Parts: sequence; C-alpha cells; structure tokens
Amino acid sequence: METTEPARSERPLPERVAAAHRQAEESGFTWSCIPEVGRLLTLATAAKPAGIIAESGTGVGVGTAWLQAGLGAEARLLTVDHDPEVAARAAALFADDSRVEFLVGDWRLLEEHAPFDVFFCDGGGKREDPQRVVELLAPGGLLIMDDFTPSLHWPPLHEGGVDELRLFYLGHPQLSATEVMTTPGSSAIIATRLP
Ligand SMILES: C[S@@+](CC[C@H](N)C(=O)[O-])C[C@H]1O[C@@H](n2cnc3c(N)ncnc32)[C@H](O)[C@@H]1O
Repeated sequence: METTEPARSERPLPERVAAAHRQAEESGFTWSCIPEVGRLLTLATAAKPAGIIAESGTGVGVGTAWLQAGLGAEARLLTVDHDPEVAARAAALFADDSRVEFLVGDWRLLEEHAPFDVFFCDGGGKREDPQRVVELLAPGGLLIMDDFTPSLHWPPLHEGGVDELRLFYLGHPQLSATEVMTTPGSSAIIATRLP
C-alpha cells in the first residue's frame, strides 16, 4: 500500500516544529502529533486570526508549534499538560512569544479561558468528559482530535466493538463533525460547534 512517508519527509517542517521534534527525540517522547495532523492544526488557527486557541496535552510542544505556526497577531494559544517536566521543555521553545501560555496541571485548567475558537483535544478531556469538551467550544469553534483508527463500518468499530466515543462526536447534535484520514492507518475527527 502506498504510504504518505515520502511526501512527509520531503516537505520541510516549520522551524519551531522541527525544534520540538528534536526535543522529542532527545527526551524519548513518542506521543507527538504527526505532520498530517500538524498541518490541520496550522490551518485551523489560521482560520481564526483573533481566536482563543487551546490544546490539552502539550507534550514536548510539537502540536503547540504547529498551532503557533498559524497564530494571528491578536490570537492567544493556551496549552496544558499535567507533566511538569514535558511542559517545561515545551515552554522553553516559546519563550519569545507572549501569545502562547503554558498551564501545568489537569486539562480542566483550560476551562477558565473558554470558549475556544480552536481546541486540539489531545491529552485529557477527549475520553473522560466528551460533553464538556463540546461545551468549551465557541459557536463556529473547531475541534480536532487525532489518533483514531479508520473503520470501514458504520457504526464505526474499534477493537471488535462499536466505537461509542467516535459515535458521540460524529453524531453530536451541537456539532457538525467528520472523520478524515491522516495516514492509511490513522484518522482524525474534525468538528465545528453549531450556533
Ligand atoms: C498525545 S500527548 C500530547 C502530544 C502533543 N499534543 C503533540 O501533538 O505534540 C498527551 C499528553 O497529554 C498529557 N495528559 C494526559 N492526560 C492529561 C490530563 N488529564 N491533563 C493534562 N495533561 C494530560 C500527557 O502528559 C501527555 O504529555
């Protein structure tokens, strides 16, 4: 099967994304988002030039760097991680950008900054409290979640059973949502909150 790897390796990464990837390698952090998802993140923040952008699960800052790459001059980006060590590594990469704020603790620390125009929900929230995730979106706000496994079936299946979490988001009455393939073996859910 054809893979997207050649295109991924040929297309240059934004400088800060590359720096975050180097940090991931140095620290052995293997949970960063892939470039296919990263480019969606940049697109989403660029579509909300004065937006409030949120990320749950900073990791070492790869996703943050992709979000920041599309950040407008008037926009703000808040990212949270409950691991102080990874959060500190990531924060060091963005010391020159006052639009980007790092929170250390549970993902619910984001709540006081809602509603969000873009929410990359990648560490906390997605599974624990999906309804709250939806509530934190502004009308027209974009929700992005990666790391799903594509399913050819409806309702979608995962590990032999119906994937109730995916159904929740794809069928939510307050969302217009779809699933896009990010590689032949992975997918992301993209949704917008209806007015
Ligand atoms: C998949 S990684 C994040 C990767 C990052 N978003 C990126 O794209 O490079 C998930 C991160 O979420 C953090 N995390 C998991 N559960 C959390 C929670 N309840 N609150 C805050 N952070 C959490 C983990 O410490 C981990 O660093």
